[in-house]
Amino acid sequence: MSDVLAEINELHTYFYTEEGVVKSVNGVSFRVHEGQTVAIVGESGCGKSVTALSLMGLVEEPSGRLAGGEIWFDGRDLAKASRKELERLRGNELSMIFQEPMSALNPVLTIGEQLTEPLIEHLHLSKKEALKRAEELVTRVGIPRAKEILKSYPHELSGGMLQRVMIAMAVSCSPKLLIADEPTTALDVTIQAQILDLLLTMKAETGMAILLITHDLGVVAETADYVVVMYAGKVVEQGTALSLFQNPKHPYTKGLLNSRPVLGHRKKRLYSIPGQVPNPLQLGQGCHFSDRCEQCLDICREKQPELKAYDGEHLAACWLYEEEEELVPNARIG
Ligand SMILES: Nc1ncnc2c1ncn2[C@@H]1O[C@H](COP(=O)(O)OP(=O)(O)O)[C@@H](O)[C@H]1O
Ligand SMILES: [Mg+2]
Repeated sequence: MSDVLAEINELHTYFYTEEGVVKSVNGVSFRVHEGQTVAIVGESGCGKSVTALSLMGLVEEPSGRLAGGEIWFDGRDLAKASRKELERLRGNELSMIFQEPMSALNPVLTIGEQLTEPLIEHLHLSKKEALKRAEELVTRVGIPRAKEILKSYPHELSGGMLQRVMIAMAVSCSPKLLIADEPTTALDVTIQAQILDLLLTMKAETGMAILLITHDLGVVAETADYVVVMYAGKVVEQGTALSLFQNPKHPYTKGLLNSRPVLGHRKKRLYSIPGQVPNPLQLGQGCHFSDRCEQCLDICREKQPELKAYDGEHLAACWLYEEEEELVPNARIG
């Protein structure tokens, strides 16, 4: 296997609000190998974006803070990196595309001005060279009439076009890791597939690793090597995409898999997990999924299960399997 590019260890990111401490990311660990696609999945509010923002050093201050853990990237612990060091990394070795491209672009600057800025800053190109490179990039992400587009402002472009621009910007300095936070959620279905294809083409061309955040397991099945399932700030299951899709352990993962849209019926869903993601300020002492879980045991309400390896790299945090382990030797004796 290729080398480890990023390793997140026991990451805790908290927001200190008037209502209390929101533990948005509460002890998350996973790795991204060079050139790999790792997906973080989970319903809205589970801590996916805050995990990504923590990696980028973009957690909203002063209420948000890294409260513990390590973020190793390319040999450095970003949790300890200075603001300046993080700024140098961002848009260079580490870049991110957001769900809402409009919110990430500056409305008063042209696309050209925004695309050339990192090229001038990080790659030290001259203005003329940067413009030429920006034109190539825009063409490469499938936008016709590049020169015209570079002169336009964000509000003049469609959502799909803006997301292409964001991708061009994100890959412009050949990052080692691209974080894509729900990059297609705001787009309509036909454009979604095009944008995903574009991301994969860019990955194949540049060899970058991708951390793909999505709630759509259909997308994950098509793209990811490794999957991290988050629920209420914690990882409930993680494993290679193959292992996780073939042999999901956690009832939450099974629920997500069952609620995938049916092929050919994009609007039709087989199933939806009953209940809602809990309020982060009112988390109980047991498994956070227990009150939605159809297989809940007494212990699930009392004590939090730890993430344990069941099959090589396949980990799950669920009491159902603790029980199973105990039962196996007994069954053999009988
Ligand atoms: N700036 C913030 N202040 C307070 N709470 C926040 C802030 N940002 C996110 N949160 C909370 O952290 C939790 C995780 O949020 P987020 O990572 O955005 O979820 P996801 O991306 O999985 O939908 C949510 O409960 C959200 O309300
Ligand atoms: Mg999010």
